[in-house]
Amino acid sequence: MVTYCIQSNNKAADVEITEMTVDDLDEVMAIERYSFVTPRSEKMFRLELRLPGAHNLVAKVNYESDRGIAGYINFLIVVGEVHIRDVAVRKDLRMRGIASKLMAEMVKISYHQMVLHATLEVRRSNTAAIELYEKFGFEVKGVRPLYYSDTQEDALIMWADLRESFREMNV
Ligand SMILES: CC(C)(COP(=O)(O)OP(=O)(O)OC[C@H]1O[C@@H](n2cnc3c(N)ncnc32)[C@H](O)[C@@H]1OP(=O)(O)O)[C@@H](O)C(=O)NCCC(=O)NCCS
Repeated sequence: MVTYCIQSNNKAADVEITEMTVDDLDEVMAIERYSFVTPRSEKMFRLELRLPGAHNLVAKVNYESDRGIAGYINFLIVVGEVHIRDVAVRKDLRMRGIASKLMAEMVKISYHQMVLHATLEVRRSNTAAIELYEKFGFEVKGVRPLYYSDTQEDALIMWADLRESFREMNV
């Protein structure tokens, strides 16, 4: 578990990053359903909590009036690569650096497992996510045309060499 402090509207709050558990799933699913056109099912989340190589982390905020799950990340480490599957933050807590903290934890875990490369797919129109990923060194390396059948949208395939993030974060 790791705790950070975030600052927003002159209000400081602690953000604690921990392993996701089954007890977190109600709040996680509410964020998932709000955030994605085609959300993943609770069954999938439950499966991934038990999947070898899967990492499921939640960020919990601790404001005076608001304690709860602010966001989560799910990634797999397979054959020496990180595959980021899902990252989302509660609508009212976006743009406060919470997804960046979750991504930073992914970088640290990768470093400790000596995993140097990461990949993901993102909708072409998802500017917020693309900017987040670029901040962690991801670059577009390919396109899957019309990959998302729900909106007939292309997927951008992004890759990152994590060594730059290791250096910047001094892990
Ligand atoms: C994408 C998402 C996870 C970002 O979460 P967040 O906590 O707001 O992100 P952060 O505050 O850590 O921002 C990280 C960077 O992304 C960029 N960013 C975030 N939201 C942005 C927006 N709406 N527009 C433009 N840039 C944005 C900023 O440049 C920021 O960089 P900075 O720290 O230098 O300012 C959030 O918008 C979300 O939950 N979206 C819906 C789910 C989703 O699309 N997930 C990605 C699936 S591939």
